[in-house]
Amino acid sequence: MDDDKWYYVMPPNINIMKCELGDTAVEYLWDCINDARENKINANKNLAGNIEESLYLKDNNNYFWDNHLKNVCHQYLKENLYCTSFRNNFTNTFSEEMIMREFWVNFSKQTEFNPVHNHGGVMSFVIWMQIPTRSKEQHDLPISKNTTNPSSSDFQFLYTDILGAISPMTFEMDPETNGTLVLFPSTLSHQVYPFFNSDDYRVSISGNIYFDPNGSGQVTTDMDTRIDQLQNSML
Ligand SMILES: [Fe+2]
Repeated sequence: MDDDKWYYVMPPNINIMKCELGDTAVEYLWDCINDARENKINANKNLAGNIEESLYLKDNNNYFWDNHLKNVCHQYLKENLYCTSFRNNFTNTFSEEMIMREFWVNFSKQTEFNPVHNHGGVMSFVIWMQIPTRSKEQHDLPISKNTTNPSSSDFQFLYTDILGAISPMTFEMDPETNGTLVLFPSTLSHQVYPFFNSDDYRVSISGNIYFDPNGSGQVTTDMDTRIDQLQNSML
C-alpha cells in the first residue's frame, strides 16, 4: 500500500574510524620513518606480516599520540562504552589512561602479504603512507580479473555479521589513499593481499594502544566503575 512506510533498521555494531591526516601529521610520520631507516630496530619477529622488512618507530615525546590520536581514541572509547571487547589482551582491566606501546612501519614489496591476524592492545590503527599501485589495475591482472572476487592489493577486515557469516569489509588501495588512517578494535581480524607488477615499496604504519595500568586512572574490572571513570574523564 502507498501509505506503508518502510525503513532499514541497522542492528548496532562497533564502528571503525577513518581519518584523512593533514600535512603536519604526514610530514611528522615520514620523519619517523626516515629515523627508523637509520636506527633499524627490526619488528618482524613480533608481527604476522610475510614482509621482508618491518621496523619499530619512535614517537618522539609522544607527539603523534598526544596531538593526533589521544582525543579521538578517548572519543571512540566513549562512543563504545559498553563494548567489553575493549580491554588489554588477556586481562579484564580498564583505565581511562591510554598509551601507545607498539608503533612500526612495514615496507612491502610486490608479492608480500599479511595473513589474517589481529593485534595486541585495546585499539589499533593503520596508516597508508605510500601506495604504489591502482586497485583497478590490480583487480584487472590475469590472476584476478576473471574471478568472483578480485582482491589483489586490497586491505580487508573480517567480521561476523548478524547471521554469523564471516563478512569482508574491504579498503581498495590507490595512491589517493596515502595519508589515510583507520582506527579499529585491536581484536578485529584483518589481512592484506599482495600487489604485483610494481617495483616500488608499499609503506604503511601501524600502532597499538593499550589501557595504561600505571596511569593516573584507577584500574578496575567493575563495569559500573569503568563507566563512571570514563564519563568523568570526558568532562
Ligand atoms: Fe595488522
